[in-house]
This record gives sequence, structure tokens and C-alpha cells, in this order.
Amino acid sequence: MGRLLEIQGLSRNFGGLAAVNGLDLAVDEGEIVGLIGPNGAGKSTVLNLIDGTLKVSRGSIVFKGENITRFPPHRRANRGIARVFQKNALFKSMTVLENVLAGSYLRTSHGPLSVLVRSLDHVRTQREIMGRCLELLEFVGLDDKAGEMATSLPHGSQRELCVAVALAADPTLLLLDEPLTGMNAEETASMIGIIKSVNSTRGTTTIVVEHNMKAVLGLCARTVVLNYGQKLIEGTPRQCVADPAVIEAYLGTDADVF
Ligand SMILES: Nc1ncnc2c1ncn2[C@@H]1O[C@H](COP(=O)(O)OP(=O)(O)OP(=O)(O)O)[C@@H](O)[C@H]1O
Ligand SMILES: [Mg+2]
Repeated sequence: MGRLLEIQGLSRNFGGLAAVNGLDLAVDEGEIVGLIGPNGAGKSTVLNLIDGTLKVSRGSIVFKGENITRFPPHRRANRGIARVFQKNALFKSMTVLENVLAGSYLRTSHGPLSVLVRSLDHVRTQREIMGRCLELLEFVGLDDKAGEMATSLPHGSQRELCVAVALAADPTLLLLDEPLTGMNAEETASMIGIIKSVNSTRGTTTIVVEHNMKAVLGLCARTVVLNYGQKLIEGTPRQCVADPAVIEAYLGTDADVF
């Protein structure tokens, strides 16, 4: 397995606040890495720096051997980085299928102009894209909801749709920010199954930020614990949850994680 992502000395300040401070993080192809830590630790900021939503203050991000530190978000998407935000980001006036279609255009080279330039080729591509989007909806179990408005779905299904939208760009690296928040037990189990099968069937490398420690233990072979923008510890999830500093900073002594 090769190195997919190499982050060194990554820092981001907001005024006087060091939201992320000197973070080193390496991710290999095919891993599911958990990024955990207390509220305000800098987890979402790390994802924002990786996908280009935020500019880096200091440090470097190398993805597939290329230094992407100064790349704008669309170039990072084009290289294969996709993101599911902490809050559902769906097109409200579009159907479930249309949202996935919109996701697929993040990476295709066939923009609107190609309709004029290469119309036949475009039609074939459109048909292929439509087929792939329907497959993705089947993959997340929403194929029977393709024609419904995205916002009419229950919360858990909207989260799953966000994953399908991200996958439509065919990413190598998927960034998931609290995919399980607000879900009931059934929705949680379903989403965990989806994240696992994205990894096992598509080989997608994943960084998942999540407060549900039982889920992290089940999903990730490796976790990185952030606190005040710095790495507190990294190791197997079990090593991390048993670490006194992690218990002190994050979990508390009565944490029910096993
Ligand atoms: N755009 C911003 N402007 C100013 N401060 C910000 C901004 N984004 C994040 N912060 C601050 O940076 C720190 C880290 O925030 P971040 O959202 O990364 O935490 P988090 O670990 O994702 O927390 P949570 O678990 O609550 O989602 C916090 O103190 C937050 O208030
Ligand atoms: Mg966050």
C-alpha cells in the first residue's frame, strides 16, 4: 500500500486562535482513519484544509505525491478528494438523483460547452453518468427514492445521499465529517455498513471525524486524537480510548465505549 496523503506541520489560525497547530498526519491507500477529539479540537478545520475549503496558514499537504497545499478546492476535487460536510449540503430544489448528478460533474471533463462541441459523445457520456448515478443510489439504498425531492428524505437518508453525491465524483479520498450525528440506531448501522463497503468494494481511502466511539472502534484500524489543534496521540482506536490523556481531555472516566 502506498502513501496517499502526507500532511506536515499543518496549521491554521483564526486571528489569535491556533485552530490547527503543527499537525503531522500520513494516510495510506485503502485506510479508514478516524479523527477524533473534543468539540472545537480542530477536526473539521483539518478536513477544510485538506479539501481546500480553508487556506493553510503553515505546513504542507501532499496528495498522491503532488503538493496541493495552495490548490483551490476544485483542483483538489479533480485530483480525487471529496467531502461530506458536518451539516447536510444538498441542493434543496433538486431531486435525489439530480443531487447525485450534480456531484458527478465535479470531476467530469464534459462541462456544458461540450454539448455544442461534441454532442454525440456528450449524449453517450450523459447516459453513462446517469447509469453510474443510479448505481450509486442503489449502493446507498436510495434507488427507490431517486425522483423524490432530496429534502423530503428523513435525516439519515439525507446523510446517505450526501455520501452518494460525494462518491459521484469517484474520489480516491473521502472526507466524512460526523456522518452519524443525529441518527437513530438503525440509520447508524446502515451508514456504518455503507462506509465499510465504500472502502472494501471501491477501495476508497477514508478519513472519518466522529464522536460515536463505538462506531469508530468498528470502522477504523487507526485513529488520531486532536486536542486544541494538536495531535494528542495516534494508534489503534483501542490504544487511543485507553490512553489517560484521551480520557482526561475527551472521553471522561465513565465513557461507555467498549
Ligand atoms: N471559520 C472560522 N472562523 C473562526 N474560528 C473558527 C472557524 N472555524 C473554526 N473556528 C474555530 O476553530 C476551532 C476548531 O473548530 P473546528 O470546527 O475545527 O472544531 P471541531 O473539532 O470540528 O469541533 P466539533 O466536534 O464541535 O465539530 C474552534 O475554536 C472554532 O470556534
Ligand atoms: Mg467539527
